Amino acid sequence: MKTIFSGIQPSGTLTIGNYLGAIQQFVELQNNYNCYFCIVDEHAITVPQDRLELRKNIKSLAALYIASGIDPDSSTLFIQSEVPEHTQLGWMLQSISYVGELERMTQYKDKSQGQEAISSALLTYPSLMAADILLYNTDVVPVGDDQKQHLELTRNLAQRFNNRFNNIFTVPEVRIPKVGARIMSLQEPSKKMSKSDTNQKGFISMLDEPKRIEKKIKSAVTDSEGIVKFDKKNKPGVSNLLTIYSSCTGESIADLEKKYEGKGYGDFKQGVANAVIDTLRPIQEKYEQLIQSDELDAILDQGRDKASLSAGKTIKKAKKAMGLGRK
Ligand code: TYM
Repeated sequence: MKTIFSGIQPSGTLTIGNYLGAIQQFVELQNNYNCYFCIVDEHAITVPQDRLELRKNIKSLAALYIASGIDPDSSTLFIQSEVPEHTQLGWMLQSISYVGELERMTQYKDKSQGQEAISSALLTYPSLMAADILLYNTDVVPVGDDQKQHLELTRNLAQRFNNRFNNIFTVPEVRIPKVGARIMSLQEPSKKMSKSDTNQKGFISMLDEPKRIEKKIKSAVTDSEGIVKFDKKNKPGVSNLLTIYSSCTGESIADLEKKYEGKGYGDFKQGVANAVIDTLRPIQEKYEQLIQSDELDAILDQGRDKASLSAGKTIKKAKKAMGLGRK
């Protein structure tokens, strides 16, 4: 059975972008792969975090993974910082990463733009991400479109390590969903929907109440044409809503265009809102049960132990290949 690894940062409540671009694929793939799903808290601290808020977000993310349909008995769900091999291999991979290639990462450029005190971890973040993936002999990494460049770098680092030391890492493939790989902001459809957006109206959180979801979708930026048609360049707002609608219900974009032919944006937006609310409702109900139970700790303990086993084997081989420690 092939192996999948993916991670999500506990840096705020997830958006439907995270759900449609990432989690939805995880749920779909989990029965056919040996899966590792990680709460990457060490990635979250590359930008300042409030200690108590981070703790809360870690648990909340674990509950959201499970509420969305990740089965903790078949998949390994765990917290990155509880498996120290991640940072260990991260450091080793930093030693073969070039500053130039790290500086070229668009996410680094975006996040560091205009900042005065940029943490060095923000720059070296992709080496840690590569370590996450390579520790588990990962074959496939399902992610949204924004992680493609990091995956390219991961592949380069794996190949570089294998050529320079010993052939121990599997070179992973990236998997991007056909629809929903880049959900855009509802307010600025040229910008990716992000959980750290300061404009609350730009994103839908997975835990937003139905009324709030409806309100946000109704105030989403569209255009004055009044025609429901997918045209990313000229109608980015409507195209984004069509993408969200299609990813939630599984109806094709062409079918949705037909369904709303001759109807205005009011009807269409109501349809989008219903689709999102119906998708999130069962997840939110399950989430409420989980977050109040003790189940989560047992699941995360089990995940940590399973992940440690595999990570421990890989780090041993990698250290040996590099000549670290004693024989
Ligand atoms: P993060 O936490 O920003 O996002 C988690 C996942 O959600 C996807 N995503 C989106 N997909 C569609 N539309 C959007 N607007 C949108 N926003 C986010 C992301 O592509 C991602 O799949 N560096 C990663 C976390 C990470 C990781 C890993 C991922 C650390 N180690 C190893 C895969 C493998 C990140 O910051 O994702």
